[in-house]
Amino acid sequence: MDRIRISGGRRLKGEIAISGAKNAALPLMAAALLTDETLTLVNAPNLSDVAFMGDLLRGLGVGATYSRANGDGGRWDLRAADLKSTTADYDVVRKMRASFLVLGPLLARAGHAKVSLPGGCAIGARPVDLHLKAFEAMGASIELSDGYAIASANRGLKGARIEFPFVSVGATENTLMAASLASGQTVIENAAREPEIGDLGRCLIAMGARIAGLGTSYITVDGVDRLHGARHAVLPDRIETGTFAIAAAIAGGEIELTGTHCDLIESVIPLLARADTTVKPTNRGMTVYRNGSRPIAADVETAPFPGFPTDLQAQFMALMTTADGTSRIRETIFENRFMHVPELLRMGADIHVQGDTATVNGVERLKGAPVMATDLRASVSLVLAGLAAEGETIVSRVYHLDRGFERLEEKLSAVGADIERLKA
Ligand code: EPZ
Repeated sequence: MDRIRISGGRRLKGEIAISGAKNAALPLMAAALLTDETLTLVNAPNLSDVAFMGDLLRGLGVGATYSRANGDGGRWDLRAADLKSTTADYDVVRKMRASFLVLGPLLARAGHAKVSLPGGCAIGARPVDLHLKAFEAMGASIELSDGYAIASANRGLKGARIEFPFVSVGATENTLMAASLASGQTVIENAAREPEIGDLGRCLIAMGARIAGLGTSYITVDGVDRLHGARHAVLPDRIETGTFAIAAAIAGGEIELTGTHCDLIESVIPLLARADTTVKPTNRGMTVYRNGSRPIAADVETAPFPGFPTDLQAQFMALMTTADGTSRIRETIFENRFMHVPELLRMGADIHVQGDTATVNGVERLKGAPVMATDLRASVSLVLAGLAAEGETIVSRVYHLDRGFERLEEKLSAVGADIERLKA
């Protein structure tokens, strides 16, 4: 298994191109199931999760080709002319939970689908009850059998009023896709407002869907009989953007992040400012600057968009480990998302976790150590900590990183970090 070696202490200088968002690309790819015409996605990131979604779609009978074209980033051409299967097996779904996003499109297009229940994962239980209740409200019958959700709507899905009891990104996306081909109007109340929902909605609209209220918590969808092909550019990755902004904050220096924009990390910018880091918009994205003085501690609580993203919690904690003062970090989305803490402790951090809150007492300096990645965002937080640490950090199990960060070590070494991948 590959590992990543980092020698800390280098300031960063230069520019980093931000890739398309993984968490936008995955539902967008699932949306290809809604039409027999070609859906072309450009600015698609080259990540193992995205490749995996390609394989899953191929297994369902979708023609799926990935290419890299000049100026387009990665490009997927997806054509679900005929579906040869409507089943996603346990082996597929357990490897990537976003696989569950094929359920809504399959059900809407084919009238039935059998998708394995994802089960728990490293960061929490992550049930899918909200997805299933939404499909039931739209007239589907759902049977849970042998670990599978078997859904059928032989006479088609019907528009419905769906009020989510709390915000769920995935349930909003699955419902949005299914509702696009349902008969009549669907109203989604307490919808997620994450930018990736807006991106999916805009792509569905380009495919002929009738959707209003994107970006708000009240979305209406007037179902249409069929959707057609489209070409759509995947939104920039806000988590990658925030991660590299935190890298500049943690290592010091100045970097320009291109192909992205400040709105995507609006909740993060004031916290970075409190940590003595300036973020300014540029024509191509933003610059992030810190002069090298010690960051100042700030408290943070994760929340659905527009709040502080759970997917940046671990990275922000890495920054706070060397801050001046004590910061309290509360995780409200997932119940087990502090797995980076024991690894950061191995690097000399001073963190105490009680329930959903981690109290981080900033230390003068972290020390490099061998550490182990446990999930995608936790693992990148260890890389960030390595940038700030004295000496060498070796991060193992980097396949977690490859799920969601495109060429991380190349991008960081291009701005002066001493980082390399050690091939197995
Ligand atoms: C999406 O997961 C992202 N994944 C996650 O990114 C992200 O952390 C999360 O949203 C929150 O922003 C993708 O977009 C592919 P949720 P999702 O449904 O859709 C509970 C990363 O590192 N819930 O908004 O699965 C759930 O357990 C990943 O890139 C139910 O109880 O998240 C969680 O506590 C990790 N029942 C909360 O809601 C349901 O039916 C929010 O989850 C659905 C969710």
